[in-house]
Amino acid sequence: MRTREQVGLADVQDVYSGAEGDLWELIMGQQIHIGGFPSSMDLCAKAAIAQKGGNAVDLCCCNGAGMRFLLHFCGLDHVTGVDATPIMLERARERCTADNLQDKTTLVEADACATGLPDASMDLVWGEDAWVYVVDKAALIREGTRLLKPGATMAFTDWVEGPEPLTAEEAERFMRFMKFPSLASLDDYKNLMEKEGLEVQHVENTNRYAPCIDLYIRMLTEQLTFDALHIIGYDQALMQTLGAEMQFIKQLADANKIIQGLYVAQKKR
Ligand SMILES: C[S@@+](CC[C@H](N)C(=O)[O-])C[C@H]1O[C@@H](n2cnc3c(N)ncnc32)[C@H](O)[C@@H]1O
Repeated sequence: MRTREQVGLADVQDVYSGAEGDLWELIMGQQIHIGGFPSSMDLCAKAAIAQKGGNAVDLCCCNGAGMRFLLHFCGLDHVTGVDATPIMLERARERCTADNLQDKTTLVEADACATGLPDASMDLVWGEDAWVYVVDKAALIREGTRLLKPGATMAFTDWVEGPEPLTAEEAERFMRFMKFPSLASLDDYKNLMEKEGLEVQHVENTNRYAPCIDLYIRMLTEQLTFDALHIIGYDQALMQTLGAEMQFIKQLADANKIIQGLYVAQKKR
């Protein structure tokens, strides 16, 4: 597990309260994760949760897209979204209400590592490409495990270090740009889940990361440049810097140094 102590929850809240979060939504859509809808469908299939009903919690729910995905496409009865950024929770509330899902959703402002939700209350603990922003991943997996009913499922994807290790300089530049306080390897999460007594069923590289980074660069340079400039106050110098950092991420992705990991685990009965 790599850590970067200069970044904390307040920095992550700043990202998702301002232009940077809006830029991610511009290039990724409402589902701010690698691979969008197909990635969510893949995770849902591997977690074998479809149409079983029950309660889910989306840890780091952002604008609530994952919550709405679980209700519209996976047959959950109720989804609680936990996020630490008030603006994102407000957006989630508006969008869940617009989809007429206000009675099937609950939004909680909290650190995902200390949700305050009851023990063993969830049939599914869900996360999509967000836990990389959480400082203490061991505490996060512990909290997720606490929320699971016996036999229930934890399913998540995340940005993780790939089979080719980053150099110290690459890790520093990547985590600084992305505002990641820590970065797990594929095995780090597996080890954390096993430590909590979960039975791990899937640990996979989705192979979606590099092609999606290519797609985002193309969106920014070939279609959405004006929209991106609008979000950052028409600052062309900043746009160039962002473009350079995206190209750097592309190099890491092409070298298999950063990947999207997919995980499914079950709490023992
Ligand atoms: C990339 S977005 C999540 C995207 C979302 N899962 C999706 O698929 O659309 C990251 C979110 O994590 C939230 N976040 C980061 N660290 C957190 C923490 N420790 N506790 C709660 N929320 C956190 C941020 O506020 C932000 O809304």
